[in-house]
Amino acid sequence: MSHFASAPQKAGPDSTSLLPDLNHVVIPQNLRSRHARIQDVDGMSALINEFAAARIMLARGPLYLYQNIQNYRVITVPVDGEDVVVACGGLHVLWEDLAEVRSVAVHPDLQRRGIGRSIVLDLIEDARQLGAAHVFTFTLSPVFFGSLGFAPVDRNTLSPVVWAECSKCPKFYKCDEVSMMLHFPQQEQNHDQS
Ligand SMILES: CC(C)(COP(=O)(O)OP(=O)(O)OC[C@H]1O[C@@H](n2cnc3c(N)ncnc32)[C@H](O)[C@@H]1OP(=O)(O)O)[C@@H](O)C(=O)NCCC(=O)NCCS
Repeated sequence: MSHFASAPQKAGPDSTSLLPDLNHVVIPQNLRSRHARIQDVDGMSALINEFAAARIMLARGPLYLYQNIQNYRVITVPVDGEDVVVACGGLHVLWEDLAEVRSVAVHPDLQRRGIGRSIVLDLIEDARQLGAAHVFTFTLSPVFFGSLGFAPVDRNTLSPVVWAECSKCPKFYKCDEVSMMLHFPQQEQNHDQS
């Protein structure tokens, strides 16, 4: 894709959403995530910023997504011969024992089919493989993360490294998100012993 094809675009006059309509697309069963590729950034950006516009998530521009692409997973479905990103999520290592799940989003037409669960379980496995002892997230969907083993945690007990990212958020001084944490007891023990 040329630089020109990636130049900033405005939505057309009749369009309030940059997301494809998936209502008439046959969705394969058992969709699995894969590591994101550079070519997925436009689709990831459309998905994340759809929810950011509704103040449900923090916006992510293309610069951030290109520079952090190795941290992301996506789920795609074939639409008219092209892979369309229908879900994404990222895992960011913040410190020796701590990783953060960020920017989990599922296309509105495909929610409540287990797609969000699948991508977050894969991010949790990535965190385990990396040797993290704790995974946390800030979210407006505590029931969803609670169903995956995360529990609410007092934000005042979080490591100061967490606040670096939070300070970029327009809701920094009036945050309504729930902080949630998942622990890997075995890896906590390893950290304590090292
Ligand atoms: C939150 C989100 C990622 C969930 O993805 P999803 O694919 O719809 O969720 P799943 O189908 O995997 O749900 C797994 C479980 O989470 C819980 N859950 C998910 N969405 C829920 C909702 N809206 N209300 C209550 N429980 C919910 C349920 O327990 C569900 O299991 P069930 O369907 O068997 O009852 C998706 O709704 C989304 O993209 N929301 C907008 C962006 C967002 O809020 N991201 C959160 C992180 S910032």
